[in-house]
Amino acid sequence: MLTKRRLDICDALLDNHIDIEHACGKVGACTTCHVIVHEGFSSLGEAGEDEEDMLDRAWGVEQRSRLSCQAIVADTDLTVEIPRYSLNHAKESS
Ligand code: FES
Repeated sequence: MLTKRRLDICDALLDNHIDIEHACGKVGACTTCHVIVHEGFSSLGEAGEDEEDMLDRAWGVEQRSRLSCQAIVADTDLTVEIPRYSLNHAKESS
């Protein structure tokens, strides 16, 4: 039996050679993978409370912001923007 891979926005970007940061290893514990979803936002499942809490710490959050590693892609095309700045405490302290 084949199972369909659950693909999140972060993996979709990385699979397409778009180098988005993902400092926490895509476990929803940082904000470096923050994206703004311009098209297809409603096709995504709702953000959980933990994701919302992390987004509160992200730079440049908008109503259609998501942590790309937490947003599972459906069959709808998406248009996303990677904000110019992100808060990467691990990178900034090294
Ligand atoms: S990579 Fe850290 S929250 Fe997505």
